[in-house]
Amino acid sequence: MPHGHDIRVADLHLALGEHPRMPVLDGVDFVARVGEATAIIGPSGCGKSTLLDVLAGLAPPDSGHADPGGPVALMPQGDALMPWLTLRENVAMGARLAGDPAGEAGDRADGAIALLGLTGFGDHYPHALSGGMRQRAALARTLLAGRATWLLDEPFGALDALTRVEMHDVLRGLRRAGQPTILLVTHDVAEAVALCERILVAGPRPMRIVDDIRVGAGDPADVAAAVLASLRQAGALA
Ligand SMILES: Nc1ncnc2c1ncn2[C@@H]1O[C@H](COP(=O)(O)OP(=O)(O)O)[C@@H](O)[C@H]1O
Ligand SMILES: [Mg+2]
Repeated sequence: MPHGHDIRVADLHLALGEHPRMPVLDGVDFVARVGEATAIIGPSGCGKSTLLDVLAGLAPPDSGHADPGGPVALMPQGDALMPWLTLRENVAMGARLAGDPAGEAGDRADGAIALLGLTGFGDHYPHALSGGMRQRAALARTLLAGRATWLLDEPFGALDALTRVEMHDVLRGLRRAGQPTILLVTHDVAEAVALCERILVAGPRPMRIVDDIRVGAGDPADVAAAVLASLRQAGALA
């Protein structure tokens, strides 16, 4: 059984900036079920990262509710590794933030490093690692935070196609092992279909959810076509 709770977002509104304030979230509404992986797909700049910031408690909404159902691990857009820390120290940061003492965090980091195929690179600094390795490290750090709910912001966006498919496999393995509840932001339709049980389609800024598509056992191409049709109808595609 998965731990944690549903993620509940109700009538969420937020405007950002000054002179003028610009509406970014405009009545965002959804429930993401515990133990499921739910994708949010939407055009660039529509407010996806802002939504995750609100769910992670980093930005207060103007109105409405954003209940992540408990403590979350946020994997921010880009890998957000600390350049002055080694890979091992970066990964251990996840466990340190979860309250582990330093020695134990180091041991757990070594375990996660092995699990994600990074053995031998623990003493390297981020600049000396490939994009794929950095994203593995960021995923390892997310894993070690020990949260039941993961908010992943375009986690595989910077990767070449082959490495991305490989990372999809890694994430599927982590899901089998830990059954986290995942909210995965992406603008890659194929990625959403490959990794998630459900796809929420967001329109252009200011964000609303315009469609809710279940990824079943049917033809993935049909799901992708449905997502594209919704994006087009919302004016998110040319
Ligand atoms: N702190 C901020 N102040 C003003 N505007 C912002 C701020 N953060 C983001 N924005 C704007 O809000 C919109 C949504 O941004 P973001 O959530 O990053 O979009 P996405 O992740 O979907 O690409 C963008 O137009 C962006 O320029
Ligand atoms: Mg973003």
